[in-house]
Formats: sequence, C-alpha cells, structure tokens
Amino acid sequence: MSGRRGLPRTADLGPRAGLRALATLRWGTAGLYEALEIARDGLGPVFELGFGRFRPVVIGSSEGLREALVLQREALSWRPEGDPVVRLFRRSILVTDGPEHDEARAVMSGAFEARALREAAPEMLAIADDELDRWPEQGKVEAVAAMRRIAWRSFERVFFGYDLRGPELEATLPGLLAALRYIGPGAWVLRGAAGRPPREVRLLERHIRKVIAQPQTGGTMLEALREAFGTERVRDHALTMLIAGHDTSTAQLSWALHLLVRSREWLARATREARAVPAAALAGATADDLPVVEAVLREALRLWPPIHAGARRTVREFQVDGYVVPPGQRVMLSYLLVQRDGTRWREPLVFDPGRWLEGRGAPGPFTWVPFGGGPRNCIGAGFAQLEGRLVLARVLQRFDLAVTRRPLRGAMGATLEPRGGLLGVRRR
Ligand code: HEM
Repeated sequence: MSGRRGLPRTADLGPRAGLRALATLRWGTAGLYEALEIARDGLGPVFELGFGRFRPVVIGSSEGLREALVLQREALSWRPEGDPVVRLFRRSILVTDGPEHDEARAVMSGAFEARALREAAPEMLAIADDELDRWPEQGKVEAVAAMRRIAWRSFERVFFGYDLRGPELEATLPGLLAALRYIGPGAWVLRGAAGRPPREVRLLERHIRKVIAQPQTGGTMLEALREAFGTERVRDHALTMLIAGHDTSTAQLSWALHLLVRSREWLARATREARAVPAAALAGATADDLPVVEAVLREALRLWPPIHAGARRTVREFQVDGYVVPPGQRVMLSYLLVQRDGTRWREPLVFDPGRWLEGRGAPGPFTWVPFGGGPRNCIGAGFAQLEGRLVLARVLQRFDLAVTRRPLRGAMGATLEPRGGLLGVRRR
C-alpha cells in the first residue's frame, strides 16, 4: 500500500484558502502557524504540508498526539537529521533516542526534583528583582528582551551555579540570538537541511565552555553532567538545556504580559491577587495561593504555546487517523492546532483565563499540551511553571502595566513569541 495515498495535502486546498495560506508568508516563515490553521480548517486535523522540500505530515488532533507520544512512540525518531537543532545540539537529550537519551534524562532528573525547585525560587526572584530595578520609573519595555534576561540569568544561576551579568552577558547575547535564529524556521526549511551554524554562535559556545570549565559551581545540573559525561557531551547537554530552558520561559512570560495588558478585567484580577501576597513571602507561594496568575499562564500557554510543534521522523510505519505514514517521513506534531481546536475548546481564539478557574480545566487528555506528553514530555515543566508564576507575580507587585499602541503579532522563531509590541510600565 502506498503510505500516503489519500492523505490530504495543502495543494488540495481550494484557491481561496490557498491564497490565504500563501498570504501568511508575507512575514516569511514567522507567519507559518497561520497557514497551518488555514490548512487544518480546509483539510482536517491530519494533512501533508507542502512547502518547498519541507513536506511534513502535520498531526493536529488530540487522538493523533496520543498515538505519536504514547501508543506508537517507537515509530518516531526525535532526531530529524539535517535539522539545525541536530547540527547545533549534536548528541544531547533533546535529539537522541533510546538508551542514549534515557541515560541523559536520568542524569538530569535530580535537578528538577521538588526540593531543588523550592531552593531555586528565592534565586529566581533575586534575579527578577535585579532586572526589574533596571526598568524605567515610567516608560516602555520590550517584553521579550526583558524576560529573556531574567530567564537566561535564572537558568544559569540555578542549574549551572553561574552568575551571568554585566559585560559578559552583553558580549554573549549576540551569540545566543544567532543560535536562536539559526534553529528557527528559515531558508533551510525550503532546502530541506541546514548549513553550519553561523560564526557568531561561537560567542555562546565560548561562554558555555567557560562555564563548564569553572572550578566548583553548586549548579544542580552541571555537577551531575560533569560526573556522567566527557566535556563534549557536557557541552551538548548544557547548550541544549540553556536554550530549551530559557527561550521557552521567555516566550511564556512575554505572552502572559502582553495578553494581560490587553484584558482590563484579568489584569486587574491578577494584579490584585499578586499584591495580596507579601513580597517577602512570594518565593514560598504555590499555585493555590495565586490561582488567577496560574490561570493566566495556562491560558497564555494554550493560545500561544512557545513550542508550537514537535519535529519527528518516522522510523517505521505510523498509523494515524486512518492513514498509514511510511518510514522516513517528516512529521510535525502540532501542539498549536490541538490547543486551538474548535471541536474541543469553546471559542479557542479568545484569551479567557476563566476556563481554568473554579474546577474547570482542559476538555480532555492531550488537549492542553504546551509541555508535550508521554515519557518524553518536557523535563523542565515544573521549573518553567514555577518561574512563570513567581516572575509574573513579581512584575505585577512592582509595576502598574498598560497596553501601548505598538502593534503586536505572533512570530515563529525558535519559539512562537510575541513580536513588535511594547509594554507600558510605571513603578509603584
Ligand atoms: C514554558 C516553558 C517551556 C515550554 C512551553 C516547554 C515545552 C516543551 C515541549 C513541548 C517539549 C516536547 C517537545 C516535543 O514534543 O518535541 C519539551 C521538551 C523538553 N524541554 Fe521544555 N519547555 C519549557 C521549559 C523548559 C525548561 C525550563 C527546561 C529546562 C530547564 C526544558 C527542557 C526541555 C528538554 C530537555 C526537553 C526534551 C526532553 C526529552 O526529550 O526527554 N524545557 N519542552
């Protein structure tokens, strides 16, 4: 049987939907997520995307995700050869399979235990405060840049025991941004494979090697990595964790802030709630102490999942939604489509934190999947949720926020992040 016979293709979209999908490319690949939604509306939740040599089978249903992440997970590899993540991260936890992956995950898991996270909370807040001290008394703030500094420094402090600041941070930032541009969608998507990482990435690489070589750290993850692996593998894992562990939190927090300032009701409720917790007690606050802040974050992750898709390749036949996908096929697990599925979520495009309050929640398994699912879900989900809660609450405690007129849109880079908008801020 020919594997993909009958699988709907974007080429089958009618002229009107086809033109709408093409129009999303006016922002280059940054707007590709909109084309996915148009294709899903016209073709159903499982289809083949045709974009140059990039022809993944897109899976946009909860049932399909369950097949891919749990029931038939052995049919899919996490190492789509030729992708920039594989070239940059080489043999790290994110891009290896089987025992090699499982060993790395076991080595790192201690850094994510509840006790380690509790100890991380005051460190995250100290860094957030240090960064918020730099904000203007009254003015405009670029949320992504500001949240990146907090998330990046917190990550290095907690997991590497490294105090990144001042000139070293400024000198390394261009390397980090170059790495993020490199792993995001770009011309390589059309060619089907990425070239070498750009030279600027060496700035980041040099920083990582310096951190790895520092004498004693106290960083919960670096020590475990050093004990288990040689320098090159430590490099691969450390670089991967740094990128996976801060760019996502940056996007989560930036979206939450931008969505909040666009909703008078939820901004007022979240602000009231955050300010009811004494500043000195915030590090110990749980999700139960901050239900509205928590609901805002969950809803931001639903509407704008920072990791909007999982990239895979079939290593054997994979059956989904009545179709048979042959080995060697690129697959895209679309967390975004699933979380905006109108057959499961009421008014899916509306930002409504209320859907998470008063005992309400996701409408079923594999419907809210910002951290993926199954045995290879996000190892850092607990850390990310804690960080989101504490940093968002701290910003609300210290600043009055307002929307500005600068237009905002979603952009698919290394993560799906807000681009363009500015936050209005006034120190209390
Ligand atoms: C809001 C923040 C975050 C989001 C939305 C997020 C999302 C995800 C998703 C969706 C996956 C699965 C990807 C796939 O199916 O292909 C994943 C995996 C992963 N995440 Fe996160 N993540 C976040 C924060 C973090 C943090 C803070 C860390 C580390 C400190 C981290 C480290 C990882 C790693 C290492 C994996 C691969 C796990 C494995 O393959 O075993 N993430 N993340």
